[in-house]
Order: sequence, then structure tokens, then C-alpha cells
Amino acid sequence: TRAYDALMPLPKAELHLHIEGTLEPELAFELAARNGVTLPYATTDELREAYRFEDLQSFLDLYYALMAVLRTERDFEDLADAYLARAAAQGVRHAEIFFDPQAHLARGVAMDTVVEGLWRALARGRADHGVSTRLIMCFLRDESAESALATLELAEPHLDRITGIGLDSAEVGHPPAKFREVYEAAAALGLRRVAHAGEEGPPEYITEALDVLGVERVDHGLRCMEDPALVARLVRERIPLTLCPLSNVRLRAVDTLAGHPLPAMLDAGLLCTVNSDDPAYFGGYADDNFDAVRRELGLTDERLRELARNSFLASFLEDDEEWRAR
Ligand code: HPA
Ligand code: ZN
Repeated sequence: TRAYDALMPLPKAELHLHIEGTLEPELAFELAARNGVTLPYATTDELREAYRFEDLQSFLDLYYALMAVLRTERDFEDLADAYLARAAAQGVRHAEIFFDPQAHLARGVAMDTVVEGLWRALARGRADHGVSTRLIMCFLRDESAESALATLELAEPHLDRITGIGLDSAEVGHPPAKFREVYEAAAALGLRRVAHAGEEGPPEYITEALDVLGVERVDHGLRCMEDPALVARLVRERIPLTLCPLSNVRLRAVDTLAGHPLPAMLDAGLLCTVNSDDPAYFGGYADDNFDAVRRELGLTDERLRELARNSFLASFLEDDEEWRAR
């Protein structure tokens, strides 16, 4: 059987997905109307025109601005429910979903509103869409370490719903070690740890995320390829990388998809996964990313199956959870 079939996408887990990055222009306008928020764009087409990014920061500026439409529990529920429906249609059976509470707290939206709203959709994910989920709370690395600690404290009543912590936003100039204390506190609370590293930042940030923050999985990790000793370590320690090929093209971490290092990374023995990052902004959901690397990088069916298998291996699902039976 062919591994790749547009009508039967490979079952996969999505491990690098920012829920705020799934806000499609149509839903943004709908929520804006519902909440009386005025967007600086007249139409969805005009908004889509703004999706031309130079780098990570130019994307983040729009990403944070559009969040203005997310105000109520129902908004977060609708956002997550729309993502789960789209993900399910692309073969996603399990999703470990990032959210950025500080970006909402700064706008006067409470932690409770965000977590309760997302949870309303996620709790029905299995029943409604056949997708199991985990929530990963990210800290904004361009905010202070104190702010991250205060955010962790605010999240404590919700830890039954939060599996782990991550680190995102503007990478360069904000090395992982800045967040040593909050990662130690999170570990003591039993939270799993991941961090974005080596997207725009240097390979040293990947090493620091492993050694100082104790991360179990590296988000992006693309720039490890500049350091052969680091690649050897990641292979030896079986550290999963959550790659996001379409994101890398849109944010210019790579010049072209055809020049993406994914094949070389797989050849090196790295535990790679393919994910969508911010699919509403970067031109595709999980299987769109699989399809793109199949077409542009000529990955074989065997390689695509390896990527799908890796996504479950690298997930925070427990060994006895039912995906194995699927
Ligand atoms: N990188 C860093 N921070 C982010 C991203 C990303 O791709 N998406 C949302 N926040
Ligand atoms: Zn990301």
C-alpha cells in the first residue's frame, strides 16, 4: 500500500502547534465582530496579503496583534474546536498543543478564561474528532524570567490539564538559561519540558536547552546541523526534534523547501518529526507539511512512515495509551 494518499493521510501526532497560530482569517473576522474588535484590515483577503514575512519577528508582530479578537472562553473553545476538525481531516490522531498565556494576560484575558475555553474543546476532542490531546504552556522568552515564574504560579490551579511547559517567541538574544529557575520549578511540579531552540538562534541554544532546562524534546532544532558534535549527541540521546518545514520557508529559516535539511537530518539518524507550527499563517496543516516534503524533498513512503511513527514515539502519550492499537 502507498503510505501517501491524499484521501487517507497517514495517522500522525502533531507535536509543534501553537493554538493561536491556527486562527484563520475567517474566524478572526467572526470573533472580531462578535467581540466588537476592529481589525486593521477590511477583508480576509487583505489580511491574507499581510502574511508575507521577513523573519520570525515580522510574523510574531501579526500573530500577537490578531490575538486581540480572542476574548472569551467561547472564543478559545471555537478556536481549538476548529483546529481539531482540520487536524483530524489531515490524519492527526493526537495533538500536543502550545498556548501562550502571557500574550493573553497582557490584554486582560485571564488564565482561567484561556485554559477553561481551550479545555472545553479538548475534552471533547476524542469523542468529536478522534483526536487525543495534551496542553503545553509556553513562556514568551522575550519577557522576563520573573514574568514566566508568575505565569507558572497562575497556572497551578490548572495543572491537571497542563502536561508540560515550552518556550517560544523571539529567540535571538533570549538564551534558554534565562529560564533555568522556572524550568526547575516546573520539573518539581511534575511537568514535562520542551523548548524552541535553534530556529533562528545558534546551536548553542539547543545544548543549553538540554543541559540547563532539561528539555526532553527540542522544538525546531534546525540549526543543530551546523554542529556535528551536537548532531551526534542528539542521535545518541534520541532527542526528538519537532521540525516545521512550511514554517521554515515562510519565516526564511531556509531559502526554499527543496533546500530543507530534513533528508540530511533523517540520514544522520536524528529523531525528526514534521509539524505545522502556525498553520493559519504558514500555508498548511499537518498533512500539508507531509505532502510538501514528499513533493519537494522526494521523501520515500518508507521515510514518510518513519516520520509518522516518530511523531508517536516522541509524544507524551503513555506506552499503554490506545494509539498503539490503531
Ligand atoms: N517560533 C517562535 N515562537 C513562536 C512561533 C515560532 O515559530 N510560533 C508562535 N510563537
Ligand atoms: Zn513554534
